[in-house]
Amino acid sequence: MKKIIAVLPGDGIGPEVMAEALKVLDRIQEKYAAAFEYEHALAGGAAWDKHGEHLPQETLDICRRSDAILFGSVGGAVRDQHQAKWARAEVNSLLGLRKTFGLYANLRPAKLYPALASASPLRADTAKKGFDILVVRELTGGIYFGEPKGRRGEAESESAFDTMIYSRAEIKRIAHIAFQAARTRRKKVTSIDKANVLTTMVFWREVVEEVAKEYPDVTCEPMYVDNAAQQLTLRPSQFDVMLCGNMFGDILSDEAAAITGSLGMLPSASLTENGFGMFEPGGGSAPDIAGKGIANPIAQIMSAAMMLKYSFGMNDAYDAVARSVETVLDAGYRTADIRQMGCKTVGTEEMGSRIADRIISQTG
Ligand code: IPM
Ligand code: MN
Repeated sequence: MKKIIAVLPGDGIGPEVMAEALKVLDRIQEKYAAAFEYEHALAGGAAWDKHGEHLPQETLDICRRSDAILFGSVGGAVRDQHQAKWARAEVNSLLGLRKTFGLYANLRPAKLYPALASASPLRADTAKKGFDILVVRELTGGIYFGEPKGRRGEAESESAFDTMIYSRAEIKRIAHIAFQAARTRRKKVTSIDKANVLTTMVFWREVVEEVAKEYPDVTCEPMYVDNAAQQLTLRPSQFDVMLCGNMFGDILSDEAAAITGSLGMLPSASLTENGFGMFEPGGGSAPDIAGKGIANPIAQIMSAAMMLKYSFGMNDAYDAVARSVETVLDAGYRTADIRQMGCKTVGTEEMGSRIADRIISQTG
């Protein structure tokens, strides 16, 4: 089986962690007799340097002729946002890709690895219970893309506006993704809304409840987003699948990742209606630590694993990568972001190599 993968490392720590993900994919090729062809392409600030734009046509063409997109991260430091190279780099490249390819279903698993319980900011007794949450985030609609958006007027009466809008079809298709995922898990969907205030969210709740009727084996309960933010810190183990619109999913998925111990642990898959996907870590380009060789590559490695599972149907290979990550954590290896007493702190490359080596040495 041959697969073409568009590899877009991007900016900041993107190239460093991407190198480790490719190391792992190389071992997967050996073990599972697969053939991956990597087509490197530029995005974000890296693309700006060569093409004067954040998402050049060349990159889109490469993505279009690939079987999946493996994305690193884009963007520069906050203090550099006034430079043309960095202004709206994330929006132009990332949101551009999501919209161009119709990547509406964003899956963000946040799981507390038992070995990392004490790296979590949760209270010890809460962390001890563990959690395994899948945030299902709608990714091509809502307030991110709603029209009209813009600015008008001047001086004191100048104002700015965005539009929060969801169609029935958009809510239905993402709700189906959440319910189907729940069926393979603990059979519970918590649908996040703000139906006490926003008309869009009253509608969201209605449509989700309609879809829920088709899944009588799955429990569905609505929850206001402010309460959900709080419940994540108090009792995260109550959640299985969290179904969210674009903006609430953005916020809650960062929170869900943070309580696992580090943003560097959050992988994600963004899928179209026919299984094409883009896979990226949730953490961002972390320009403050870029080039130091200390970034955590696990989110990027697990994003590559999600690609194996969701785009290539290689479920065993996904399990092999997940097991390798877990074994290396259990053996006490940590990158700086998840540093722990009594554990060995290693750099990006060593963490990547240890995980990659495990792929071959593990049995089964
Ligand atoms: C994410 C990021 C993006 C988003 C930004 C960088 C545009 O925060 O993927 O969660 O808001 O969707
Ligand atoms: Mn985000």
